[in-house]
This record gives sequence, structure tokens and C-alpha cells, in this order.
Amino acid sequence: MNRFTNKTIFLTGGATGIGRATALAFASEGASLAICDVAETETQETVQLCKNAGANALFIKTDVASADQIQSAVQRTIQEFGGLDVGVNNAGIEGTRDKGTHEYDETIFRRVIDVNLTGVFLCMKAQLQAMLAAQKPGAIVNTSSILGHFGMPGHAAYIAAKHGVMGLTRAAALEYARYGVRINAVCPGWIETPMTIAHNEKDQQLMDKLVKTVPMRRRGTPEEIAQTILFLASDHASYITGQGYLADGGLAAM
Ligand SMILES: NC(=O)c1ccc[n+]([C@@H]2O[C@H](COP(=O)([O-])OP(=O)(O)OC[C@H]3O[C@@H](n4cnc5c(N)ncnc54)[C@H](O)[C@@H]3O)[C@@H](O)[C@H]2O)c1
Repeated sequence: MNRFTNKTIFLTGGATGIGRATALAFASEGASLAICDVAETETQETVQLCKNAGANALFIKTDVASADQIQSAVQRTIQEFGGLDVGVNNAGIEGTRDKGTHEYDETIFRRVIDVNLTGVFLCMKAQLQAMLAAQKPGAIVNTSSILGHFGMPGHAAYIAAKHGVMGLTRAAALEYARYGVRINAVCPGWIETPMTIAHNEKDQQLMDKLVKTVPMRRRGTPEEIAQTILFLASDHASYITGQGYLADGGLAAM
């Protein structure tokens, strides 16, 4: 398929994991990409892989928690590629893995909210300004999580942020539907990426336990989430907006 020929994608968190797989999937379907991340070396590798697939791609070093950096990254994308068709707001951090709320570090909590929630807001704000100014239809896909729908002990900041991403997605979908801008979230289950690497034996035991609860009895791949994001960003999803689209191996069906 070549669903994104002549389309420009602004994607955050493209250094590794789901973001890199999504960048490569867009590149293979003819898109031009601005890839924003704090991680320079890995994102340059993603850009090179996109170029190897025949796409135009550009790395813009950006901390999604900075309004100034996001605004200038969107402006640069438009200067470079002549417009903006799709925003994929995917950058995220995990925060602390197994701390109860009574002991959760406030500084870490605030940073997780800054990156995972405020970062999505800042990206959407800049992308929507650009899309409205161009008076062209567009699509935004935010990366929430199955933890944007359900709770889990030990991850207060992450879960609060991902629920917040669902709220932002629904509110903005209603605000911009009449302008032809569709806004959805992808909600991955347990996916094999650097974020979910087991750091120790206890982590590994938890991961093994989690996988046993998945009806498909395996973790998802970044490529499977990438395909869900491309679907939501494409005209194949032309009547879908305001959704948190679960890609979770059946977990939420239980
Ligand atoms: N892996 C999973 O099981 C899973 C499940 C549900 C949701 N998610 C979400 O998917 C998204 C991608 O995560 P992943 O699993 O691919 O992990 P990952 O760690 O491979 O990717 C996260 C990316 O975000 C970038 N990033 C971090 N802080 C940033 C900042 N301040 N500014 C710009 N970029 C920043 C990282 O450099 C990296 O490229 C995240 O939002 C994550 O919360 C992951």
C-alpha cells in the first residue's frame, strides 16, 4: 500500500520501539517524516533507515515537554516539507515501576506527567494550529496504553498520564471533527520494546506473569502497533475519531 504518498508525518519518540517501527512503516508507504526525540544517535539511525526505504526523513532534536521546542519543530517540519498531514504523539517514559502512591517520588511523578501528558497536549496544540491554518483535513494519533483504560498497582504517574491522554484525545476529537481533523489514540497492551525490558529477576517474573494473562499468550511487537497507528492515521479510518483503539492481544476483552 502507498497510503501516505505526498503526506508529511510529525512523529515523536522515534528513536526506538514503537516510534521507530511506526516511522519505518510510514516510510515504506511513501510518507515524508519529521522525527522528534531527545535521543540523538538512535533517532539518526531511524532517519537513515527511513531514507534507505526511499523516504524523506529529518531528525529534529526535541524534548516534548518544551512548548518552545515543539512549536519550532512543527514550524521546521512545515518549512522542510511544505505542510503537515499527520501527527503521531508517541514519546513516553515509564517512571517508577513498583512504587505505591504513598511513596511515589514527586519529581518523577511531575516528569512523567510533563512528558507523557503535557507533551501530548503541546504537540496537539502546535499540530492543530498548523492544520487549521492550512484548512486541510488531518489526523492525529496519540499513544496512550491499555493503562489509559485500566489501573495497575505501582505505576501511578504513568497510569494518570495515559488516562489523561485519553481525555485529551476525546476532548480534541469533539472540538475539531467539524474541521476534518480526526484524533484518536492507540492503546497498546504489553509490547516488546526498550521500555519493557526486565531490569532484574523480579521484573522478569512480573513480565512472565503478565504475559500469562494475555489471551494470545504473547507480547505484541512494535510493528503490530505501528500498523494500528497507520490505520488510524489513514483514510481507511475516515469515520473514526475520539477512540482509544486497543491493540492488546485480547486483554481488555476479559
Ligand atoms: N512497550 C509497551 O508495552 C507500551 C504499552 C503501552 C504504551 N506504550 C507507549 O508507547 C510509546 C512508545 O514507547 P515504547 O514502548 O516504544 O518505548 P521506547 O522507550 O522504546 O520509546 C520511547 C521513545 O520516547 C522517547 N522520549 C522519551 N522522553 C522523551 C522526551 N522528553 N522528548 C522526546 N522524546 C522522548 C525515547 O527516546 C524513545 O524514543 C510510549 O508513549 C509508551 O508509553 C508502550
